[in-house]
Amino acid sequence: MGGGDGSRRHRRANMSIYYIPVASANTFKVAVLNSKGGCGKSMVATNLSCWYAVEGLDTALIDFDPQGSALRWLTLRPSKHPNVHGISGGHRAKTVTRSWQMRLPSETQRVVIDTPAGVRGFELGELIRQCDVIVIPVLPSDADIHAGAGFIADLLLDARIRSAGTRVVVVANRIKSNTRIYASLQRFLDRLEFPFVAQFSDTQTYVQAAQQGLGLCEMRADAMVQREIAQWQRLLASIEASAKPIVPTRAPLAAG
Ligand SMILES: Nc1ncnc2c1ncn2[C@@H]1O[C@H](COP(=O)(O)OP(=O)(O)OP(=O)(O)O)[C@@H](O)[C@H]1O
Ligand SMILES: [Mg+2]
Repeated sequence: MGGGDGSRRHRRANMSIYYIPVASANTFKVAVLNSKGGCGKSMVATNLSCWYAVEGLDTALIDFDPQGSALRWLTLRPSKHPNVHGISGGHRAKTVTRSWQMRLPSETQRVVIDTPAGVRGFELGELIRQCDVIVIPVLPSDADIHAGAGFIADLLLDARIRSAGTRVVVVANRIKSNTRIYASLQRFLDRLEFPFVAQFSDTQTYVQAAQQGLGLCEMRADAMVQREIAQWQRLLASIEASAKPIVPTRAPLAAG
């Protein structure tokens, strides 16, 4: 593609509400998306950023939701825990340019993006085009499976997404094991031939972790937490399958 085209594209992305900054060729960007509200986007985004930070990677969390739940989590995060750099993308700053407002620390290796409910159409395409991996959390209710199917169909139909080569992975959230609805979610994902890489349980530990600015991997490692950690490791392995291997800048902390 010619330079003129590239700079036009850059200008357009720079103006977009979903402009995602890049620190270097190593910046790997993961967005958590689903147009349905309340399915666990912020839970997945905060936990994912926490995992990366605990593993010693320089991590930024961009919150595009004007509600700001991911950044609220960050304000609660105890300073002795590995740092996650927060960027508020949900409001346009009046006194600085968009690119200054969204700037990343130059050493950033992983960017995790939390998004609001209801992103569709042009804005969805803009967002996805700039990301390496999209994680879609789906709740195991009939209504959520239906909405999730519509959303995933939109993704598949979007030519910009196909040409950008962005990978899409689906996770089930708030699973109460062996429910009928869970089986129907699994059948739906099997039909789509989508990677359904992890399932997170419905447990108050996620709520307690969120209230303390922590990730699940930083909670007391009882049997339930260990089961959940195994699921996060599956998600991480799937996401990282397409990332360039990089060396952590800090020593990883032991999870749990
Ligand atoms: N696995 C889980 N177990 C228990 N509670 C959960 C779990 N996942 C999310 N929650 C809770 O469900 C609620 C909705 O989750 P969350 O805010 O992550 O969803 P969301 O998709 O970001 O919502 P919104 O569309 O409003 O941004 C929150 O109170 C959160 O603490
Ligand atoms: Mg949210």
